[in-house]
Amino acid sequence: MQIIHSPAQLSEQCRAWRRAGETICLVPTMGYYHAGHEDLMAHGRTLADRLVVSLFVNPTQFGPNEDFDAYPRRFEEDCAKMETVPVDAVFHPEPKEMYPEGYCTYVNVEGDITKKLCGAQRPGHFRGVATVVTKLMNLSRADRAYFGQKDAQQVVVVKRFVSDLNIPTEIVMVPIVREESGLARSSRNQYLSSEEKEAALVLSRSLKKGKEAFEGGEKDVETLKKIVRDEIETEAMAVIDYVDIYSFPALLPIKKAEQPALLAIAVKIGKTRLIDNVILGE
Ligand code: PAJ
Repeated sequence: MQIIHSPAQLSEQCRAWRRAGETICLVPTMGYYHAGHEDLMAHGRTLADRLVVSLFVNPTQFGPNEDFDAYPRRFEEDCAKMETVPVDAVFHPEPKEMYPEGYCTYVNVEGDITKKLCGAQRPGHFRGVATVVTKLMNLSRADRAYFGQKDAQQVVVVKRFVSDLNIPTEIVMVPIVREESGLARSSRNQYLSSEEKEAALVLSRSLKKGKEAFEGGEKDVETLKKIVRDEIETEAMAVIDYVDIYSFPALLPIKKAEQPALLAIAVKIGKTRLIDNVILGE
């Protein structure tokens, strides 16, 4: 596995592969790998000649009071996991390589899709995501890029700017990988104490209740949201950021959960903000 630090070198390596007629798959990540990341890489591995993983904790997608400095990092262990996939190249630049002095260009997805859910809670977050993902796609010119449903709104935003900017990369969404307990895998789970981890099970449990009600015939969005909220509120350590339902993938407001719809939640357990979702009527 090649470890590439410089953007120019990534560009050059991918160009050489393309010239040799090889297809390239890109999996963008911020590291601290768990089974969700490994599943994305495994999907990418099966469908391309060359698998490129970017491992970059992207400063521009973190707000000033967010956890950029504290975000967990363990490059050596992550490399060992990538070797087993196997990954052809990991791109691991320094922030100053991606955003050198004088850097001033950003990709801003201006539609409503970035103003709700996590976009409302984290101003500037999707601008940072769209900017770094555009740069990664320009450098790699990947045929396909893989993203997790865990961040369903991120997938919608990425598909939007890829279409709007005529980026010739196909975007593929991969289902959420969970622990046996139901907890969605996340690099941020490691912030949780064992008591908080237990409390965090309320996220998947509440989504399950919402989904069961939907499958039992309940289509009214306000009623479904209330079922989910009521369940989350049974957990004393949980503080709701949002519980929302939108059409999927358009993310339009709806009154009835006609198929398919995204039921998405963000909940704080102690200091840790966790997100999870389920697609109704998939
Ligand atoms: P990160 O949080 O490291 O996630 C990298 C990819 O793994 C994302 O596409 C995310 O949706 C996916 N992922 C995370 N947890 C998952 C799970 N439990 N099941 C399936 N997939 C999961 O998302 C980012 O990084 C960044 O915003 C990035 C796209 C790399 C841009 O900086």
